[in-house]
Amino acid sequence: MSESILELKNVHKSFGKNKIHRGIDITLKKGESLGLLGGSGTGKSVLLRSIIGLERIDQGEIIFHGERYDHLMEDELTPYRIKISYSFQSGALFDSINVFENIAYPLFEHTNFSYQQIKDKVRDMLKLIDLPGRESVMPSDLSGGMQKRVGMARAMILNPEVLLYDEPTAGLDPANTLNVVALMQKLKDKGLASIFVTHDIPSALSLCDRIVVLHEGKIIFNDTPIKFQTSSDPIVNKFNVHKD
Ligand SMILES: Nc1ncnc2c1ncn2[C@@H]1O[C@H](COP(=O)(O)OP(=O)(O)OP(=O)(O)O)[C@@H](O)[C@H]1O
Ligand SMILES: [Mg+2]
Repeated sequence: MSESILELKNVHKSFGKNKIHRGIDITLKKGESLGLLGGSGTGKSVLLRSIIGLERIDQGEIIFHGERYDHLMEDELTPYRIKISYSFQSGALFDSINVFENIAYPLFEHTNFSYQQIKDKVRDMLKLIDLPGRESVMPSDLSGGMQKRVGMARAMILNPEVLLYDEPTAGLDPANTLNVVALMQKLKDKGLASIFVTHDIPSALSLCDRIVVLHEGKIIFNDTPIKFQTSSDPIVNKFNVHKD
């Protein structure tokens, strides 16, 4: 069996009386892409936020390479947040600084690289996301899809092992969606594991090795895209918009 990188075991999370997660178990293996589906408000974003410790779980364990980290202090979480990178639902670029400064930001924060090394890394990253030479452009002068790719570049710049994507194709036109999914495929081909939260079922089916469905606080489906498309479960079928 291939090596598991990230494990969620019996994760519970409530906000007051609002029970969001009621015992979630997920295992992510090396290089694997997992598509996480669920209706609006089912707790997909909260789950990603819990994985990077922006939300604290009430019960259960979150484990990276065999080490439990969900209970650690804020400053002890930094190495895990470098290895497990979160690409925000909104893209969340800093509007007042240019593309170079946005992508370089984690390098200035977390490394001792020289300015020249940082320039080289950002240049290579811009090539990877198919925006070569755009260092000095301001985020507002980029299309929505380009902004998403810059956000993904920033999430990638510290060489994480796991990428958490929160609706990376939401609000994009078909051409930009294809560009973003192509970049996700490129990162997958480089060996990165990912959890892809989305309502964009065709993109999830094209990219993911496994589809997971979150419903009323539990994982009610966890299998291959083929099994997902041929499932007879009525809840799973609600997501199969193109199924006859
Ligand atoms: N900080 C918070 N305090 C209280 N309730 C919260 C908080 N964050 C999220 N929630 C609640 O948790 C539930 C799950 O929210 P979440 O954002 O994870 O949903 P989601 O599955 O990502 O939905 P969408 O598909 O619309 O993005 C919602 O009922 C939301 O109101
Ligand atoms: Mg969400």
